[in-house]
Amino acid sequence: MTRATERPTVDSKKMVNGVAAPGRASIPARTLRTDNWRKAPVVTFILLSSWVLYATLRTVWQAAYFDKADHYLSPFYSPCVTASCTDGSRDFGTWFGHFPIIIPFAIVTLPFLLGFRLTCYYYRRSYYRAFWASPPACAVAEPHGSYSGETKFPLILQNLHRYFWVAAGIISIVNTWDVVQAFRPEGHAFGFGLGTIIMLINVVMLWAYTLSCHSCRHIVGGKLRNFSRHPMRYKAWTMVSKLNAKHMQLAWTTLATLAVTDAYIAFVAAGVFSDPRILH
Ligand code: FES
Repeated sequence: MTRATERPTVDSKKMVNGVAAPGRASIPARTLRTDNWRKAPVVTFILLSSWVLYATLRTVWQAAYFDKADHYLSPFYSPCVTASCTDGSRDFGTWFGHFPIIIPFAIVTLPFLLGFRLTCYYYRRSYYRAFWASPPACAVAEPHGSYSGETKFPLILQNLHRYFWVAAGIISIVNTWDVVQAFRPEGHAFGFGLGTIIMLINVVMLWAYTLSCHSCRHIVGGKLRNFSRHPMRYKAWTMVSKLNAKHMQLAWTTLATLAVTDAYIAFVAAGVFSDPRILH
């Protein structure tokens, strides 16, 4: 294992903030950590980049997103509300005319979902480390010469997270509706298949992630002088706090369930295989 003290990489003359700020201990090494601290940011970089690439390709593809017989609508295309949407997929009506081919149907929800994930406290920590090395890991000096935190544009916009949380909640309701519709396949009052179960798992995970949000925890239990006079809010805050402890796991799990749900519906809608029906 390489000894970190042999690699002084911080230009302390440039540093006004951070490890070389006045009053901080003078340590020439970038870090004294001897563990493999690079692993987490590298893995995060690969996984997040792969997911963004997949989501981008699927969003611009604009095909194989709806299986009419089983009423499976991909979460990447929900709600589908343009005149260009496939017949039967417009459960919420037609809000817009035909979109030009370069504008994805998902433009209706994408800015809100992207805003929600990008401003998420956990993802911020992850992509600051993985993409900007700011800092790359705990107790590892960052390579940048100055640090302004999230006090200036554009990072000050991270404060919009609580509003994106509201939008994400509304979109989760839409996704829930899609699952309800998947239990009502074409020509049947009730039925479900493997795809319905996959969609159901995805929406449960999405709700768990949305409710585990730090902003949600504050909205539910914040701004109170004491809990004793607000037993219902205390109860809700306790439940949200338990979920909140799993926020990181839920953040990754929902990326996986979203991709799996979309891919499954894409294969079924494209006719690669048929959905195994459990009850018609
Ligand atoms: S903190 Fe992650 S979704 Fe709100």
